[in-house]
Amino acid sequence: MKITKICCIGAGYVGGPTMAVIAQKCPHIQVTVVDLNEQRIKDWNDPNTDNIPIYEPGLSEIVAEARGRNLFFSTEVEKAIDEAQVIFISVNTPTKTYGKGKGMAADLKYIELCARQIAKVAKQNKIVVEKSTLPVRTAEAIKSILDNTGNGVQFQILSNPEFLAEGTAVTDLLNPDRILIGGDTTPEGEEAINALVDVYANWVSKDKILTTNVWSSELSKLTANAFLAQRISSINAMSELCEKTGADVNEVAKAIGMDSRIGPKFLKASVGFGGSCFQKDILNLVYIAKSYGLNEVADYWEQVIIMNDHQKRRFSNKIVQTLYNTVADKKITFLGWAFKKDTNDTRESAAIYVADDLINEQAKISVYDPKVSRNKMLSDLDYLETRTVEANSKALSIFDNAYEACKGSHAIAILTEWDEFTTYDWQKIYDSMHKPAFLFDGRNILNAKELESIGFIYKGIGS
Ligand code: UDX
Ligand code: ADP
Repeated sequence: MKITKICCIGAGYVGGPTMAVIAQKCPHIQVTVVDLNEQRIKDWNDPNTDNIPIYEPGLSEIVAEARGRNLFFSTEVEKAIDEAQVIFISVNTPTKTYGKGKGMAADLKYIELCARQIAKVAKQNKIVVEKSTLPVRTAEAIKSILDNTGNGVQFQILSNPEFLAEGTAVTDLLNPDRILIGGDTTPEGEEAINALVDVYANWVSKDKILTTNVWSSELSKLTANAFLAQRISSINAMSELCEKTGADVNEVAKAIGMDSRIGPKFLKASVGFGGSCFQKDILNLVYIAKSYGLNEVADYWEQVIIMNDHQKRRFSNKIVQTLYNTVADKKITFLGWAFKKDTNDTRESAAIYVADDLINEQAKISVYDPKVSRNKMLSDLDYLETRTVEANSKALSIFDNAYEACKGSHAIAILTEWDEFTTYDWQKIYDSMHKPAFLFDGRNILNAKELESIGFIYKGIGS
């Protein structure tokens, strides 16, 4: 089976970049990305590709090259489903906010809607690919919906989890460590797997394309995210101990990272991990383990989240304690709001929770982030429902210039590791602040000695 038409449902942080790269690398395949959100599609079609809705280094150039050639963004979901041989499902799967599994399980309502829509529209055999992160055995549910509500056509369900990290999505897609494709072990399943392997083989060497059964593929995605997040919680746990003992967590991370069995990556102590995946996937893993009665397994992984919540709260507590136990009416400036650098995504960003804690202490928060919009920051805070929308907009002032944001503040807190923060004129910032001028570096990106020689009281993580 030769694939010539692909449809992707969901034009978000996963669907957009992934399809742009497939289109760039496979000019013979027509790729259509559809979304219910009209504004989002309008933004993807903005004549100036610098205005596309997702910021990722290198993405706007790829969209400029492929869009209109073999890459299309559209709201015509049914037409795109009808025409495609392969349909990727890249819709959001947030943690449930209601009912059974509230706060733990993944909400599959968007996935189910997609499956029902595909079943309704499809008049020829299709391959349906799960791209969103899903609980193990979701493929079974999708298959049941497709087979029971469809028009008698055959569906093959593949699991093809996305391992790209935001901020490096384009390079991760162009040079993936591996591509994972799970499918049925029947001849039809194998044919579908091979058809998708051939798409990726246009730019990924075959030895990096792994094929497994569906459940292994689904569980591998959750496992990879759980292991990565666990490393961060482990080093963050050590950061608290370092602060008490006089050890330096950066030195500890370097020393253990040189052990080839441990390796140097994902050992940066921080204010806590954020992003749309880690917390959601671990909660999901915990929920699945509990549902099988595996309470020790569930507790083991839940501790990664408990540690992360502690790390965020510890950071806000430290600000309050250091500022003489009160931040009421003090101006505290956040540099960064995104959950990591080089993205405009803020989902589960530590900044949101630290801001919420400090506003509870009646601080006035000023924020500068190079890529996050004002509305996004406010809606992130509103989403927590801690206080009224008016109270949030009174407590949060948003600036489009870092120097202005810092002027007159009692303390600065670095929440995101944007490179530009390391190039600032810190003397100028110091001169514009109240004294003593405090700097809380939640990402350990600044030079403590230099800042202290300017006069800052500098507090990093884990030293
Ligand atoms: C993650 C996985 O890396 C990716 O493979 C998966 O597909 C989706 O989830 P993402 O959430 O985009 O990707 O970013 P990632 O680079 O993993 O960072 C997640 C969070 O951990 C960020 O808040 C980051 O700042 C934090 N982090 C990361 C640390 O605090 N310390 C580290 O050493 C690494
Ligand atoms: P991710 O990080 O997983 O890509 P996003 O929230 O960025 O998540 O993107 C998911 C996209 O899927 C959103 O733009 C949303 O509008 C879209 N979406 C959700 N359900 C459907 C659906 N049934 N049909 C089309 N698009 C959908």
